Amino acid sequence: MEMRKLGSSGLMVSAIGMGCMPLSVPENRPSEDEAIAVILKAVEVGITFFDTADAYCRDQSEMGHNERLIGKALSRLDSSTRSKIVVATKAGLVRPEGRWEPDGSPAHIKAACDTALKNLGVDSIDLYQFHRPHPRVPFADSVGAFAELQKAGKIKHIGLSNVSVLEIELAMSVAKIVSVQNQFARNHRKPQQDGVLEFTRKHNMAFLPWSPLGGIKAAKGLAAAEPLLETLAVHHRVTPQQVVLKWMLLLSPHIIPIPGASRKESVVSSAAAENILFKLEEFEALND
Ligand SMILES: NC(=O)c1ccc[n+]([C@@H]2O[C@H](COP(=O)([O-])OP(=O)(O)OC[C@H]3O[C@@H](n4cnc5c(N)ncnc54)[C@H](OP(=O)(O)O)[C@@H]3O)[C@@H](O)[C@H]2O)c1
Repeated sequence: MEMRKLGSSGLMVSAIGMGCMPLSVPENRPSEDEAIAVILKAVEVGITFFDTADAYCRDQSEMGHNERLIGKALSRLDSSTRSKIVVATKAGLVRPEGRWEPDGSPAHIKAACDTALKNLGVDSIDLYQFHRPHPRVPFADSVGAFAELQKAGKIKHIGLSNVSVLEIELAMSVAKIVSVQNQFARNHRKPQQDGVLEFTRKHNMAFLPWSPLGGIKAAKGLAAAEPLLETLAVHHRVTPQQVVLKWMLLLSPHIIPIPGASRKESVVSSAAAENILFKLEEFEALND
């Protein structure tokens, strides 16, 4: 698998990562054993970058569900394989009665980090991302909590999620930011329009598209929504989902898609997407 720089962190990760949300959030999520098997399959096919969050669970009573799954799966790896894995988690959201609500208070972020360290079974988190700006907590205060965690050695690198260029600039005045995770998909091109994709490229940050296949529910219907994907998939004997992932990889070397998966077949397919060889005119057609 091609490896890409995780921004200016000095870390290298597989060009396609794995989003772990579908292992915990959906009603029909897999069993714990199945979920662990999917994560281990991803490692087997060369995926070294895993995205999670403490809020990936069904409700507040099981906060950390997804982080614990990753911790359990990674504890089964031999130390050489484990040392190549980079885990990105997030803090800043809570799940009262299953709702997604912000809590960007420094006290919450610091407590969430201590729990995440236990959940993941690590001494220091590779990449800790602020999940979403909190409308009632000054953004600089939230990012400041991440900076303090970094100073204390509890986290190695800081990332942002769901942010504008202005918010990234503000965060950069408080801490070193290595990645930005915003929604980016065929039918959601906002990062190309609001400047975030270009800004992150210019400032040596990784851009991590969330829901790159349109989200857990829409991912299966990609081709119906965009016939070009089906045409290219048939021509290259791949799937429309693989076409989308390869298109993202070609857009810029700082893009690291994190397609979600709850089945082994999905991680195997996503990892193979990098092998598609598009002609320039096919790539251009996808960009139109
Ligand atoms: N920062 C944020 O606010 C935020 C928000 C949403 C998501 N995220 C992150 O971004 C990740 C990705 O987003 P997402 O999971 O919402 O949506 P997604 O990646 O667009 O779609 C996920 C679905 O795509 C299917 N899939 C994956 N690879 C496939 C392939 N190669 N062929 C066919 N189907 C495939 C999976 O099916 P199966 O389940 O059947 O395997 C999965 O349920 C999340 O897992 C999470 O880590 C972050």
